[in-house]
Formats: sequence, C-alpha cells, structure tokens
Amino acid sequence: MMKVITLGDTRLLQRAAVIADVDRLVYDLSQAMIETMHVENGIGLAGPQVGELKRIFVCHVSGDIPRVFINPEIIQTSQELATMEEGCLSIPGIYADVVRPAAITVQAWSEKGRPFRIDAEGSLARVIQHEIDHLNGVLFFDHLSERKRERLTKLYWKRTEDKFGSYSQALRR
Ligand code: NI
Repeated sequence: MMKVITLGDTRLLQRAAVIADVDRLVYDLSQAMIETMHVENGIGLAGPQVGELKRIFVCHVSGDIPRVFINPEIIQTSQELATMEEGCLSIPGIYADVVRPAAITVQAWSEKGRPFRIDAEGSLARVIQHEIDHLNGVLFFDHLSERKRERLTKLYWKRTEDKFGSYSQALRR
C-alpha cells in the first residue's frame, strides 16, 4: 500500500519523466498502484500522486477492468465537450464541475510493455484526461476559473486545519 500525497506537496506540480523501459519494477509499480487505488476507493491514480515522477497511471471506472497506461499520449480529441464533476485522491473532499472533450483516442504502453490504442468516452475518457494532467503537473483545479479555484483551495485548507487543528494544539503544549 503506497501513500497518496496531497495538495501542498510540490511533487504534484512537476512534469513526470518518460519511462524508457517497461521492466519488472514498472510492472510491480503498476500493480501496487492498482491496489492503492482500490484501497483508497479511487477510479484513477497517477505516478506523481504516490511520489513516483514517472509517466504512468492506472484507472478503474465502473463496469470496466483495471487499466494501466504508460507514457500515454492523447492523439485525438472530440470537438464535443462534456461537463462532469471531478474529484482527486490528492485533494480529498473537494469536487467541481470540469469541462473537457467528451471523447478521446489515446495511445500508451501496457504494464507488459505492449503498445496499444484506445478510443474512450464517458467516464473513462474523463479519468484518462484527469490522470494525464497529473503527469504534466496539472490538477483539475487548473481548469476552473481563478475565482473558483481560490474559493475551493481556501475551503480545502480550512477543512484540513479543522481536521488537524486539535492535534497541532496538543503538540504545541
Ligand atoms: Ni487526481
């Protein structure tokens, strides 16, 4: 079980590195990430979120199988846009409507090093775009208006303080 890092950790803002070789370590990482995603009740998890600044993410949307994407690239996006509510394991408790292309075509390598291409729409297209953003240091907040992003950021920090406030008080004594 890996630790999921949260807002405030600068690793979430960095660009992740290309994986040159899908070896045993990368395979093991993908399996550990799937397990962590399931334990955390997430539908997607990207390398940087577990402190691995590598271009890998996993996802598992309802009605689908768990999937691994290594060095993913979006090669086509639909003109049609869709609005869906997003959340993030790295910004727990915060949700917002985000507008993105409704359908995409992605190519990537599997956890066994095999290249593949997939057409995705609906929640799968959504989670893939959200996770690829993580590989580029982008959070779903960054798609919102500045005003909305600031409001949600303040809300997040207020809640975090409320949660840990009594603990830090105890430490101070
Ligand atoms: Ni996320």
